[in-house]
Amino acid sequence: RPKDYEVFVEFHGILLDKHFVKCWGDVETFLARSDDIVIATYPKSGTTWISEIVYMICKEGDVEKCKEDTIFNRVPILEGCHPEIFNGVKQLKEKESPRIVKTHLPPRLLPTSFWEKNCKIIYLCRNAKDVVVSYYYFLLMIVSYPSPESFPEMVEKFMKGQVMYGSWFDHVKAWWEKRNNSRILFMFYEDMIEDIRKEVIKLIEFLGKKPSEELVDKIIQHTSFQEMKNNPYVNFTTFPDNCMNHKISPFIRKGVVGDWKNHFTVALRERFDNHYEQQMKGCTLKFRDEL
Ligand code: PPS
Repeated sequence: RPKDYEVFVEFHGILLDKHFVKCWGDVETFLARSDDIVIATYPKSGTTWISEIVYMICKEGDVEKCKEDTIFNRVPILEGCHPEIFNGVKQLKEKESPRIVKTHLPPRLLPTSFWEKNCKIIYLCRNAKDVVVSYYYFLLMIVSYPSPESFPEMVEKFMKGQVMYGSWFDHVKAWWEKRNNSRILFMFYEDMIEDIRKEVIKLIEFLGKKPSEELVDKIIQHTSFQEMKNNPYVNFTTFPDNCMNHKISPFIRKGVVGDWKNHFTVALRERFDNHYEQQMKGCTLKFRDEL
């Protein structure tokens, strides 16, 4: 496995993949279209899940259209760039409208064109401790990235923001500040787990469509955890082997709220919660008490 400094570089205050930074010029000058739909998240917050839901909405529930390509090609990651594997900007330029754009960028680094064109943005947030757990397994299975030595070490790095895309705290706080913009829909992974029907209807309405019962049912069925786990178009099993090893951990792994309870010791939780309180002081963004 490579070392952190071999693959990541500090860029505008966050850690990014060195390959991504090489393509930054094209990202910064990216031309948004007014009907682009942006899906913004901190990594491991349910991006793939909501991407498939939004894709289904755009295709009026046509499952066959979701089988035309993999999710990472249908919903490219804007800043994603690798000489052999992908180039988000290039992929997006070739797409017909409406494009669905995935990004993990904080709002200050989102290309200005998206703001100028007043694009609809969906921000999906997930509680920090479950994000760390999911991120930990992700880094274990991404074999082209450095692997955390242990879970406690991962938690330390996460607290310091020494992971790709930087501090979870800064990310969610910055996007939370934007929540009153009527073109931004701020959503929670935990709400989706609790009542997917309600959240799917919210998404359909936000995108200006009619939430017929038939459409909602189809989406819920097609994007359930079990369905997505077994669906090669969304489960990343077709991603190059030299990047991901699904035997270490599947990309669509557990899909629950509260898996952190199986990973944090009492002491680690206390340390994390103290840090959390300091970082989120004055911020009105709240998760359920136990999270
Ligand atoms: S990435 O790499 O940042 O794009 O990853 P991302 O898709 O944001 O997050 C992966 C986590 O989302 C879970 N997931 C789901 N949960 C519930 N239902 C469905 N359909 C679903 N699809 C993906 C996935 O399992 C990862 O979370 P963990 O906790 O690791 O299971």
